[in-house]
Amino acid sequence: MIVNPGASHRVVVTKELPGARWLQLLTAADCRVEVSQSTEILSEAELRAAFGDHCDAAIGQLTESWSAETLGALRAAGAAIYSQYAVGYDNVDVAAATRLGLPVGNTPGVLTETTAQLAVALTFAAARRIAEGDRVMRAGAYHGWLPSMLLGALIYRATLGIVGAGRVGAAYARMMVEGHKMDLVYYDVRLNAELEAYIADYAAFLVAHGEQPVTCRRAGALPELLGACDVVSIHAALTEETQHLIGAPELAAMKEEAVLVNSSRGALVDEAALARHCRAHPRFRAGLDVYENEPAMAPGLAELDNVVLAPHLGSATTWTREGMATLAAANVAAILRGWPVWRAARGRADVLPFLGDEEPPRAAPSIVNADDLGLPRLAAQAPTKEDQQ
Ligand code: DGY
Repeated sequence: MIVNPGASHRVVVTKELPGARWLQLLTAADCRVEVSQSTEILSEAELRAAFGDHCDAAIGQLTESWSAETLGALRAAGAAIYSQYAVGYDNVDVAAATRLGLPVGNTPGVLTETTAQLAVALTFAAARRIAEGDRVMRAGAYHGWLPSMLLGALIYRATLGIVGAGRVGAAYARMMVEGHKMDLVYYDVRLNAELEAYIADYAAFLVAHGEQPVTCRRAGALPELLGACDVVSIHAALTEETQHLIGAPELAAMKEEAVLVNSSRGALVDEAALARHCRAHPRFRAGLDVYENEPAMAPGLAELDNVVLAPHLGSATTWTREGMATLAAANVAAILRGWPVWRAARGRADVLPFLGDEEPPRAAPSIVNADDLGLPRLAAQAPTKEDQQ
């Protein structure tokens, strides 16, 4: 599909995106927009064929490999930006892009609650055996209520562990702690003072209502968290250091009847080890939204009743996916127009000015290597690395 064919800038988009706002932003910035109709994951050769030898910008997907070679070819084709339609960008060689002088955009702040809610949904789907129950109903195998049928785990006043207390992890923690009065243990290289203060205030609220408070503490080491928690949810970014953060020894350190949720990136968990662990421990439960080699799954995982599987749906609400498209396009439009970079994107509210019908700010919402490239910012507010993940 080609939109606005006579325009000056050629922008290649590797998948159809939802909503209309993103196309309006690009056409208003004098872009000819070429959208791939393929629903398959494009190989690097297909990406290069799509942007060819003249391209001003590309909007790509988390499923694609944007390696140093591919980014180099994109830069050589004249591109001023690579814009990722995702908040995560472990599939993009950002260091190479920076060496090439190529800005890399992403879409933070619009997925936070959406992804946290999916993690909550997976937690309860796993703990309360929803998918197993669904299969029973569809198979016509429900012959009436029984006292011992499909008993699951009560998640109330239990201990919650989050691995990674950034935006999504903290949102998930608040939903679980407040909703189900859980004590929180978090593991993160950074202290999350805001989250700690929020939970301290909630604890004081409970006490004021004559209830036991909840607690919050930061674990010094991962095994400490794993051994203490009834539910463990992973919200870390995937890097070389965090690959297989949860493997066989970590699973062995968890409680026999714990629930493990991963809605971040598949390779954070050694999926084959998880399949073995779930097979050997039928009362252990896992809820997965992401996979090590998406779209493939580790052999055996699909046969396990104690594993609930979703196809990377974390950000899959209309509001979020349309918002992601808007932010990805706004990054392109702003860089092509020579506009500065928006202030640090922290939380959902920060990107709202880009999402409404009114004129968006004259800025690129989020460029992950903006500071390394020395790009100017609209507001004098330096972002942290965490802001951009
Ligand atoms: C992201 O944006 O990184 C998410 O994984 C998409 O759901």
